[in-house]
Amino acid sequence: MIQIQNVSKSYAKTKKAVDDLSLHVPAGTIMGFIGPNGAGKTTTLKMLAGILKADEGSITLNGFDIEKQPIKAKEQFGYVFDTPDFFLQLKGIEYLRFVGDIYEVPSDVRQQRIVELANTLDMNDALNDKIQSYSHGMRQKIMIMGVLLHQPNIWILDEPLTGLDPQSSFNLKQMMKEHAQSGKTVFFSTHVLEVAEKLCDKIAIINHGKINYTGTLVELKEKYPDQSLEEIFLEVTLNG
Ligand SMILES: Nc1ncnc2c1ncn2[C@@H]1O[C@H](COP(=O)(O)OP(=O)(O)OP(=O)(O)O)[C@@H](O)[C@H]1O
Ligand SMILES: [Mg+2]
Repeated sequence: MIQIQNVSKSYAKTKKAVDDLSLHVPAGTIMGFIGPNGAGKTTTLKMLAGILKADEGSITLNGFDIEKQPIKAKEQFGYVFDTPDFFLQLKGIEYLRFVGDIYEVPSDVRQQRIVELANTLDMNDALNDKIQSYSHGMRQKIMIMGVLLHQPNIWILDEPLTGLDPQSSFNLKQMMKEHAQSGKTVFFSTHVLEVAEKLCDKIAIINHGKINYTGTLVELKEKYPDQSLEEIFLEVTLNG
């Protein structure tokens, strides 16, 4: 469960990247966080993960405040960055062992999870190569594997499907659904309303740092009958 209350963030003094944003993502839910470039998605997700500090407001993850109880809060989630260009000098398998050590994943569990994840994301042949030699999509997949290795309760994913091939994208969506169905929480960003279809229980549409819509996609479609998802997205982001 994620609770965001009246959160604001400015990079420069003038313009707010996130402006008095409140949002609740209940346990057992996949919520898509949808908005155009520069809307404030990454800024919001980085505040959830404690990478950026909110200027105002509060954020809790499974009840733990990211500022007041950072360790407890950080134990609740796994975070996948939109730019997966980390640990480039490590081999894929070395990175996974490193994550396993940090999160104290027992070696038998670790071994089994790596096999499962490598099969699901088609990464078996790449694990012994350096991350530097990976394509963008492969870098993204190794970061996703690292996050899922320690089985966090809350998944926070910034544009996780961008750059994945159709099979990996399908498999990741399947994992996201299963995670939510087991009573846990998935919150991920995308620019594309179509991605939310069939995947999300709920969506939140953000533009200029403010939420313009929260609810189901079905309810949103009912509000704009006879319009395509693209038209609805433009309408909601332009006019609120
Ligand atoms: N490091 C930074 N310094 C200054 N301004 C920033 C910085 N990062 C983001 N911004 C500004 O904050 C606003 C929100 O950016 P953010 O990256 O959160 O958007 P986004 O919704 O993730 O966009 P995208 O879909 O392109 O990833 C934008 O106006 C952007 O220019
Ligand atoms: Mg972004």
